[in-house]
Amino acid sequence: MASLQLSLPFSSASRFRHRPVLCANERQVLFNRIAPVYDNLNDLLSLGQHRIWKRMSVSWSGAKSGDNVLDVCCGSGDLTFLLSEKIGPDGKVRGLDFSKEQLSIASSRQELLRKACYKNIEWVEGDALDLPFSDCFFDAITMGYGLRNVVDKHKAFEEMFRVLKPGSTVSVLDFNKSTQPFTATIQEWMIDNVVVPVATGYGLAKEYEYLKSSIKEFLTGKELEELALEVGFSRAKHYEISGGLMGNLVATR
Ligand SMILES: C[S@@+](CC[C@H](N)C(=O)[O-])C[C@H]1O[C@@H](n2cnc3c(N)ncnc32)[C@H](O)[C@@H]1O
Repeated sequence: MASLQLSLPFSSASRFRHRPVLCANERQVLFNRIAPVYDNLNDLLSLGQHRIWKRMSVSWSGAKSGDNVLDVCCGSGDLTFLLSEKIGPDGKVRGLDFSKEQLSIASSRQELLRKACYKNIEWVEGDALDLPFSDCFFDAITMGYGLRNVVDKHKAFEEMFRVLKPGSTVSVLDFNKSTQPFTATIQEWMIDNVVVPVATGYGLAKEYEYLKSSIKEFLTGKELEELALEVGFSRAKHYEISGGLMGNLVATR
């Protein structure tokens, strides 16, 4: 893996911008590297629960039949496939990610699953911080386990705000950075004693150690709500899931 360099400081004064643990290129390398085992590890480490959380997140996005929707940081496409089923053959869903490897797995899953509605999916290689879409283009957006991984969370929100139609919603699922010491301790214990040992078995210890620091540098539910409102969303509500281990922000433009 590339050496751990810090990226340049951000110019804007927002308190939601700070120096990230890994720069964007290092994160891209990391997600390309874990792509072949990413889905298996998700199932194993969450005991399949991530599927339920992802369904909840798609439901919170408000996506409906015939909509034009976006899944930012789509990875291997879990949320994209759920969105595709939700909006049906008359809708259109784009799954966007900057990892070629993750997109290649997403695309082969699409071919393997062969569901008729999955024809409404387009995979887009691109940057969440510079979305290649015009203003007010989407009826709904999802972002699963992506926000924690982008180097500039403020910019990511600005971009999602820009491409959403007024009145439409973004649903952001991720680990919850809990303010409860007990929940935070459980989360850390699980990462140290379950996640990292299992990932070590796949030769990916370093990559999954990054998880703990990425949660530490993430925002609490309240801070996520404040960030969304600062960017211009009219409403923002963060919901804790699974005893506060996970969280989902729902923000409406
Ligand atoms: C933890 S994975 C989540 C994948 C999927 N959404 C899921 O829930 O399973 C995070 C994804 O974010 C992508 N990512 C991180 N920063 C990005 C950026 N700036 N632009 C596009 N994708 C990015 C990574 O390549 C990776 O596929």
